[in-house]
Amino acid sequence: MAKVWIDGETSIEVEDADGVNAFNFTVDDKQIIVSAGQTILEAVQRRNGIGNIPALCHHPAVKPYGACRICTVEVSEDGGSKFKFVAACLYPVKEGLIVRTNTERIRQLRKGIIELMLARCPNVKRIQELAEEYSVDKPRFVLGDQDCILCGLCVRACQEIIGKSAISLVNRGIYREVAAPFYAYELTEECIGCGDCAFVCPTGAIEMGDDSKPVLPKVKIPYAEVEALMKKETAATS
Ligand code: SF4
Ligand code: FES
Repeated sequence: MAKVWIDGETSIEVEDADGVNAFNFTVDDKQIIVSAGQTILEAVQRRNGIGNIPALCHHPAVKPYGACRICTVEVSEDGGSKFKFVAACLYPVKEGLIVRTNTERIRQLRKGIIELMLARCPNVKRIQELAEEYSVDKPRFVLGDQDCILCGLCVRACQEIIGKSAISLVNRGIYREVAAPFYAYELTEECIGCGDCAFVCPTGAIEMGDDSKPVLPKVKIPYAEVEALMKKETAATS
């Protein structure tokens, strides 16, 4: 018999079930059983009160991509001798896995990620909430005025849920942004105005316009600077 946790408050005793396609594993010292084929994040999100794993670039209807890394946890596959950092939204549950979701090391790592996000998006509510939870005060970096964390969830939702490619991530570095194909100023007829991108966005960076088409977040850097950078890059490659 083994004690298995249903949620943060309730546990049951179960007999060993050889041959059942399920995995026993431990999350923050609580043993749980899940059916095979789940990631750590999926398994933990289905159990109230077990584990503490924030997630921004994850949506259950879209394949995980591991862009934001805020879901980082520690895992051990050798019974607890060695632990390593992994992204919970990508890492599959395995038999005997030991998962820690809220150690000091993890909190420090998440704190660093949140500080960077807060510097970029100081006015985004979800980032502010995380900053408060992880005691991130004023970021040490120059404050930006963006509302998009470039997680790409909107782009993946458009492709995977709707089967369209009405938006994509374009440019590099500080000029990276979500845009219409070929950097067009307006969304083409490829956009059916479903609002899926706005719905999944973790920061509320996409709004639906009066014409029922999404209004995409814009890099708040004067276009003249982008133009100058493009000219410089073109000159360097010619
Ligand atoms: S608009 Fe939202 S979903 Fe799209 S990349 Fe930015 S933060 Fe992610
Ligand atoms: S939720 Fe896992 S990397 Fe973003």
